[in-house]
Amino acid sequence: MVDKKVTILDVRQAKEDGRKLVMMTAYDYPFGLMADEAGVDIVLVGDSLGMVVMGLEGTVEVSMAHMIHHIKAVVRGCKNPLIVGDMPFLSYNTSIRDAIQNAGRLMKEGGCEVIKLEGGVDFAPTIRAIVKAGIPVQGHIGLTPQTASALGGFKMQGRDASAAKQIIDDAKALEDAGVFSMILEAVPAPLGKLVAEAVEVPVIGIGAGPDVDGQVLVTHDMVGLFDKFVPKFVKQYTRIRPVILEALGAYKKEVQDGVFPGPEHSFKMPAEALGQLKQMIENSK
Ligand code: KIV
Repeated sequence: MVDKKVTILDVRQAKEDGRKLVMMTAYDYPFGLMADEAGVDIVLVGDSLGMVVMGLEGTVEVSMAHMIHHIKAVVRGCKNPLIVGDMPFLSYNTSIRDAIQNAGRLMKEGGCEVIKLEGGVDFAPTIRAIVKAGIPVQGHIGLTPQTASALGGFKMQGRDASAAKQIIDDAKALEDAGVFSMILEAVPAPLGKLVAEAVEVPVIGIGAGPDVDGQVLVTHDMVGLFDKFVPKFVKQYTRIRPVILEALGAYKKEVQDGVFPGPEHSFKMPAEALGQLKQMIENSK
C-alpha cells in the first residue's frame, strides 16, 4: 500500500484490482508503529488479545473497556493502515441498540475507523443496522472464536457439503447486509476459494487457503511471541521469544555479577560538585 491513509474504498478496490490485502493484529503502541512502518493495509485490534496479551483461555472475558484501552494505544502509533476494532463477546449480541452503541464507542472512545463482529446469517440484521448508523463493518465467519464452545472447540469449519454451503450463505448474507469485507477463519482451502468467488467484497482468510482476497494472522503467533499453542494455519516468520529470553538472561547475569551498569550507562558528576557534597556530608556528621 502507498504512503497514505487506507480507506474502506481502497480495501474494496483491492479485490477489483486483484491485489492481495495484508492484515495483521496489533494490541499496543509499539506494534501499531511497526504495522505502520511495515506498510500493511489493515490492522485489527482483535479480541485475541484476551489470549496473547492477557493470558486468558479464550476471548469470552474480553470487555469493551479492554478493547477501548488497546485500540487507543494502537491508534497512537498506527497512521496509514485502516484500523479495525473488534466487538467483544455480548457487546452486539444482546440487542441491535446495544450493538450500535457499542460499535460507536469503539470508534468514538477508541479511535478506530471500522469495527468487526463475528456471525453469519443470524447477524445480518445487526450488521445492517450498524452500517445504517454510519459505522463500516467487517464480518467474521467460519470459525468464530467467541462461540468456539458452541462449535465444539477451535476446529476447522465447513467440513461437509451442507456446513460448507451454510458458510457461503453466511458470506452472501453479510455482503447483502453491507459489510465492506469479511474475515473467513479455519475452513478448507477449496471452500475459501468458493466463498471469495461468491461475493464481491474482499474475503480475508485466516486458515482459509491461498485463493481468498487477502490474509490475516495474529501477530504474536506469526512472530513467535506467543507459542502456547500454534494453530496449523500459522506460519512463524520468526521466533522472537527465545531472543527476548536470551536478553533477559544476559541482563540478569550482568546485574548479579555487577557488570551492568558500566560507566557508559552511568551519569557523571562534576568532580568539584562531588567534592563539595562529600564535604557537606562530613560537616553534617
Ligand atoms: O481477534 C482476532 O485477532 C481475530 C483474528 C483471528 C481474525 O478475530
